[in-house]
Amino acid sequence: MMPADPLEAVTHPDPYPYYRALAAQRPFGFDERLGLWVAAAPAEVAAVLAHADCRVRPAAQPVPPALAGSAAGELFGRLIRMNDGAAHAPLKAILLRLMAAIGTDAAVARAAMLAAALDALPGMAPDTGAAVNRWIFTLPVVTVADLLGLPVRAGADAMAVAARVAAYAAAQSPLATAGDVAAGADAARWLGQWLHAATEVPRQAEDPGLLPALRHAAQAEGIAPEAVAANAIGLMVQACEASAGLAGNMLLRLGRAGTAVGNLPELAARVAREDPPVQNTRRFLAADACLCGVPVRAGDAVLVLLAAASCATPGEAGGRAWTFGAGRHACPGDALAQALAAATVEALLARGARPAALARAFRYRPSHNARIPHFN
Ligand code: HEM
Repeated sequence: MMPADPLEAVTHPDPYPYYRALAAQRPFGFDERLGLWVAAAPAEVAAVLAHADCRVRPAAQPVPPALAGSAAGELFGRLIRMNDGAAHAPLKAILLRLMAAIGTDAAVARAAMLAAALDALPGMAPDTGAAVNRWIFTLPVVTVADLLGLPVRAGADAMAVAARVAAYAAAQSPLATAGDVAAGADAARWLGQWLHAATEVPRQAEDPGLLPALRHAAQAEGIAPEAVAANAIGLMVQACEASAGLAGNMLLRLGRAGTAVGNLPELAARVAREDPPVQNTRRFLAADACLCGVPVRAGDAVLVLLAAASCATPGEAGGRAWTFGAGRHACPGDALAQALAAATVEALLARGARPAALARAFRYRPSHNARIPHFN
């Protein structure tokens, strides 16, 4: 059965025929059931993401009400991902410059080293779905932490950090329960204190990681240290669910008949296009405007179907996957994310994970935007 709407499509077993039909029949239109504008075809998705009045948050609600007033809300409000406008531009420019300097080979080598540290922990042999879930939610995140220069090289530290990052990420979902939100606020507080403590004891001078350079450049531009800290945590948060989804969807692809292991970085790129972990994102109109030839009102919301745009342009083998967004908020971690997902799958296969068995027993985690398998 086809999904009933684009939100149901996110975790549907095969949403791609539905997305293709939507992109062809209604490239931009209003979904009465959801009360949202929906952009589904590549040109319309690109137009929304490029439009000056399309913002990442509603003007009247910079922080989701469930998080407002907590440590989780405070962190959220400082993220470049969640802000538009001039105030955040200098920090964003510094972050993008530092991220562009990360070599994917070096990141993959770090991931292999950190994987060896995780082996020492109980419950990590990837012969159960639960262990595989732990790996995909841990290894990419702690590799980003390690690249920043944060202390995650002991397996127990790595697990503690990854668990907090995942709890914080989960609290941002519209499906989060009161318990998830409370756990997210605790996690945000914990991560803030951990980051602070870690900077008191910098890593050895020959391998300091990116954070000192980020701090230094930010200080030179008069950027508040709290904003730097929040966005350092933000990088780990951005790496969390989406990278887990990409690694998980790669395992599913391998587990379905007929896919040889082959070149894992190539598989990561293919899965990012064909079964993407981030299926949609949202924009909010800051003013009355004309969008894709249609008049829209200030306060309207647009669901941007990145996954539909991807499957409407299957021929672009070398092109950027739409799952990483486009325009002012495009993901600066796209190459890193694919390298880390491939490194995670490689680590799992080397440790005996069996994709065919995993693909027989999983469900998608409930989500309105991310397609992440949860292995049983
Ligand atoms: C498969 C993994 C990933 C996917 C699919 C993904 C996807 C995305 C998407 C769709 C956006 C834009 C959201 C929007 O415009 O509404 C975004 C933004 C962002 N991503 Fe990623 N991402 C991934 C991994 C990463 C990693 C590993 C990092 C960093 C270590 C990262 C850092 C960021 C940052 C900082 C932003 C905000 C950029 C801005 O607002 O200017 N992402 N990502």
